[in-house]
Order: sequence, then C-alpha cells, then structure tokens
Amino acid sequence: MSVVVEPAGVAAVVVPSVDAAPESQAVAWRHRHLLDVDRLSVAELELVMRTTDAMREVLARPIAKVPALRGRQVTILFYEASTRTRVSFEVAAKNLSADVVNIAAASSSVSKGESLVDTVRTIEALGADMLVMRHSVSGAPYLAADVFGGSVLNGGDGWHAHPTQALLDLYTMRERLTGEPLAGRPRGAVPGTGFLAGRKVAILGDLLHSRVAHSNIWTLTAEGADLWLCGPPTLLRGFEGWASRSALAGRRLHVTTSIDEALRDADVVMALRIQRERMAAGLLPSLREYAARYGLTRERLAMARPDALVMHPGPMNEGVEIAPDVAAGAQSVITDQVTNGVAVRMAVLYLLAGTRPSA
Ligand code: MLT
Repeated sequence: MSVVVEPAGVAAVVVPSVDAAPESQAVAWRHRHLLDVDRLSVAELELVMRTTDAMREVLARPIAKVPALRGRQVTILFYEASTRTRVSFEVAAKNLSADVVNIAAASSSVSKGESLVDTVRTIEALGADMLVMRHSVSGAPYLAADVFGGSVLNGGDGWHAHPTQALLDLYTMRERLTGEPLAGRPRGAVPGTGFLAGRKVAILGDLLHSRVAHSNIWTLTAEGADLWLCGPPTLLRGFEGWASRSALAGRRLHVTTSIDEALRDADVVMALRIQRERMAAGLLPSLREYAARYGLTRERLAMARPDALVMHPGPMNEGVEIAPDVAAGAQSVITDQVTNGVAVRMAVLYLLAGTRPSA
C-alpha cells in the first residue's frame, strides 16, 4: 500500500510501496529520463527523498533486496572513469533485482569508432530498458535520450550536470539538518517552502568545471537554501549572471571570492575537487596557492556554525581543496554521501521504471 505524507508547504506526496512493481503504483512522477534536476519541482524532490527513505528501510533488512525491477535490464555505459557513481548504480539496480550489464567504453566498439547513436541503438537492441550513462561531453545523455526507447539516467556529462549526486547531497542534508532544530535557529524561522529555508550552504572551489555544483544550484535553491558559491574569480565565470536570474525567480544564490564571507555562519560547507582534467592552462597560478587561499582547513571551518556539515562529492584531493583532518573530522558526512548514493539511485531507478509499461 502507498503512503500519503504531507511535508510543510508541499502538496501531498504519495510514496510508493517499493516492494511492489513500479508500474502498479499511482505515483506523481512524470519524467521518463533523469538528465538533470532543473525540471524537478519541490514536490518531486520530496517524492525522491521519501522514496529514498523507503529504500533505506529495504537496505536495513537482513536481505536488502526487492523484486521491483525483476525482468528489466539496466545497462551502465561509462565513457569516463568513475568508482562511486558507477558502482553505486550497479549495486542499486541489483538491489532492485534488475539484470545489470556494464560497458566500459574503452573495451567496447566505441574504441573502433562507433558513434554514440549507434552504440545506444545497439544497447537497446540487446534488450536494455534503462541506460545509465556518463560522458565527457555536456549534453551527450540528451542525444542518447532522443534515440533510446527506454529511460536514460545521466551519471554525469561534461561540466553540465550530475543529477543523482545533487539528489544524494540533498538527501544527506535533509537527514542531518531536519532532526533536532539547530540551537538558536528553530526550523521555519525564515519563510520558505523547502526544508533548507533559513540555512546557509557554501560551495567552495572549482565551480566552473563542476557538474556537481551546476546540479546542486538547482536543488538547493529550490529547497530554499541561501546558497553561496566561492572560489577564485577565474573559476566563478558566468555565475554572477546565474545569480541575477535566480534572484528574479526568488532563489537565493550569491557569488563571492571571499572565503570568509562564504563560510561565516554556514550550516553546510561543500568542497569541490579542482578538476585538472577539464581545466585550461592559466586558470590557477598553482595548486599550492589555491590550497593556501581556498583550501578548507580546520581554522577556516571554525568560521562556519559549530555543527556545520562538511561535504565533498569525491574523489578528494586531500591537502588541496580539503585538509585531511577536516575530511575525516567529526563534522564530515562524506561517507554518508557515498552510502546514501545507493538508496537515492534505487529510488530514482524505481520512479523512472514506473513511467512506462514493463517490457
Ligand atoms: C563527478 O563525476 O563530477 C564527481 O562526482 C566529482 C568530481 O569528479 O570531482
């Protein structure tokens, strides 16, 4: 049986009963693909969060598996290196009893010059119902979605988007921040519909090349966060315009090169990797200088609230964007982010599978 819950300020959300097949549920999810999070409403974000809660409950069982995707084939096609995203999609799909096919582009016909469109058509002809894809070119999963008959899930495309990372980041914040009200600032003190209303979130580092940051901007501001982006000026290009457009839409997005301003009284601090593989020469004088000016050290973290969460999407360059003692410190929820990634991806696979009849 499905459960109806009513989060503050959001219309009633019907949470699926995840033991049953997704197509048998009446759930308000209208997206066949998950290419980014920019089209998700607050109610849909809430549905993903609540479905993730249900998946967490599955993961706590002695046998952490449900038959929901039995008979469906999930193909994972990664054109770029990955550990946590690829493995967690695989574990998530297996926990839902899907058949999983893994393709590393380097060992496929892609290495013989096959086009993306031909590869996607071949994968579909081999029986795939869902395609999880990572590509170094921004927009590649959108092209795949045009030719693939099932659902496409973007596992990260170029600098553009990483929707499941943003969802697992949101879930981790929700889990940690909506427990007891923080001292001196009860929940709901600032008007807004989302659970992050009245919370300050700072994202530090290589914003320019970060698909994680691009997706997080949508979800965090949709949930009402006061979001601060901070880094050297060369890595903040274009975000001023985004901030002005966001303000017109009632979202709170700020851009600063001052790490003190970004960190002061923050509830959440997220450090980003310096993405050297995507960076043109000349954007940074040196990693040493970057670490000295923008690295998240214990001293700098002291400017944030004493109970501020420390996050990082990984992989980390410890000693550059984050000091090892901060990454492993008591405020760090970096391991929770990885663990929550499995439940969030189970939720997303489940919801997408319900948008079309089973094969
Ligand atoms: C990504 O794939 O974008 C990662 O999760 C973050 C990174 O590579 O720094």
